[in-house]
Amino acid sequence: MVTVRAPATSANLGSGFDVFGVALDRPADVVHVERADRTTIEVTGVGSQYIPTDPDRNVVGAVAEALDAPAHIRIDKGVRPSSGLGSSAASSAAAALALNELYDRGLSREELVPVAAEGEAVVSGEAHADNVAPALLGGFTVATGEGVTTVDADIPLVACLPEIAVSTRDARRVVPDTANMEDIVHTVGRAATLSVGMCRRDPALVGAGMDDRIVTPARAELITGYADVRSAALAAGADGVTVSGAGPSVLAVCGERERTRVAAAMVEAFDEADVAARAYKTRVGSGAEVF
Ligand code: HSE
Repeated sequence: MVTVRAPATSANLGSGFDVFGVALDRPADVVHVERADRTTIEVTGVGSQYIPTDPDRNVVGAVAEALDAPAHIRIDKGVRPSSGLGSSAASSAAAALALNELYDRGLSREELVPVAAEGEAVVSGEAHADNVAPALLGGFTVATGEGVTTVDADIPLVACLPEIAVSTRDARRVVPDTANMEDIVHTVGRAATLSVGMCRRDPALVGAGMDDRIVTPARAELITGYADVRSAALAAGADGVTVSGAGPSVLAVCGERERTRVAAAMVEAFDEADVAARAYKTRVGSGAEVF
């Protein structure tokens, strides 16, 4: 048997839609795999009742198929589904690494990124790699059609998860088809600022670089209380706030000393909007680990 822990992730970071991602040091999924004649799936943990065990409808079934690696796969969910924290990517990345090891396929983590992205296609209809790349490689990742670049960043974060569900498919439907040049120039500038901030391990630059005028405003509409949660986090000392992945989680970047205050302010602001929420005080972390 092989066991792998793969972390939650936060994609987009505002200005890097479908390109940027970070691994979070918590929460995480744990996946156990054993050789079998055909793939079977068992799911326990947070939100397991919403996850199909049919291999044709579960992300890890697609990964097992892509690696030609039938197995009994047990997923212990630590990352809630439909949270915006890369729940499906954590399972896909863990399964890809575990099955690669179990069947001695010899693929590198970089080579496993497109394999794990096959799992993403099952849930969102598109094999985007911005969550699976950090789940496998750790750090801050820039995923393009040509491959993945990584930066070993160390930045404090708060990921605030409200008790509402937003499906990735629905959140992709509200993404505008076009953007005007002024907004594109603004977003490119912010994305470049964010990348420099990650390289310099500078929360203020990362926060400034999260601002996006194209995708985030449309998605914010799907999250009850988003504007107030964002304002509360900024007032509590956050350097930047955005929607985490497809939402509904809200991600804040801040200095180490502000993290507890920012987390409390975000939970309180959701509470004032009648939405229960929990905050993970986290940071940019490492990729999946084999036990
Ligand atoms: N980049 C993706 C999105 C991440 O925002 O739709 C969610 O899977």
